[in-house]
Amino acid sequence: MGGRFALTLRPVSPDDVEPLRAFLVEADLTLAGLDAPTVRLWIDRDHEGRVIGSTGYEASGNGEHVLIRSVAVAPHDRGSGAGTRLARFAIDQAIAAGARRAWLFSRRSGPFWQTLGFAPAERDALAAALADTHQVRLFRETGQLAAEVGWSRALAE
Ligand SMILES: CC(C)(COP(=O)(O)OP(=O)(O)OC[C@H]1O[C@@H](n2cnc3c(N)ncnc32)[C@H](O)[C@@H]1OP(=O)(O)O)[C@@H](O)C(=O)NCCC(=O)NCCS
Repeated sequence: MGGRFALTLRPVSPDDVEPLRAFLVEADLTLAGLDAPTVRLWIDRDHEGRVIGSTGYEASGNGEHVLIRSVAVAPHDRGSGAGTRLARFAIDQAIAAGARRAWLFSRRSGPFWQTLGFAPAERDALAAALADTHQVRLFRETGQLAAEVGWSRALAE
């Protein structure tokens, strides 16, 4: 397992938002809604305070669906299981909160999500189930939705 990657995740606090934003820019991920109360985010920092991992989700209004988002590992720590642990953490939190289906957008990391049980999903079904989330609203407004790739998996047994 990754040497310095401790996976000491804690909920993102107001002081974390700017460093997290810079980390997600580096990872080329969406920044919409980082400080919104409906977006649940967790962060890991190394002993020098640098962000080394993040994970999170945003739920639909009825809590049944979640959009997994902001799953990222610092470049030097990739390839040794950290991403899997971060993704599983968000999934476990969503299950604990009562969600029944997880969805996400990923253009480049589909094979990674397939190892976690995700299968290709209808983009429009995702956008309908999670219409109020920041990512879906942003992608609709910018026209980016048509270029996105959706993934989904059931969370219930
Ligand atoms: C995607 C990401 C989180 C994976 O983190 P990681 O720590 O490298 O992941 P893991 O080491 O747990 O990899 C698990 C498996 O997925 C594979 N995998 C990881 N990233 C992959 C990718 N981009 N494409 C294809 N396969 C990938 C690994 O090879 C590994 O398979 P193996 O067990 O057979 O070797 C990381 O590459 C990242 O931060 N990317 C930038 C942000 C991003 O795209 N996030 C996803 C969208 S929310």
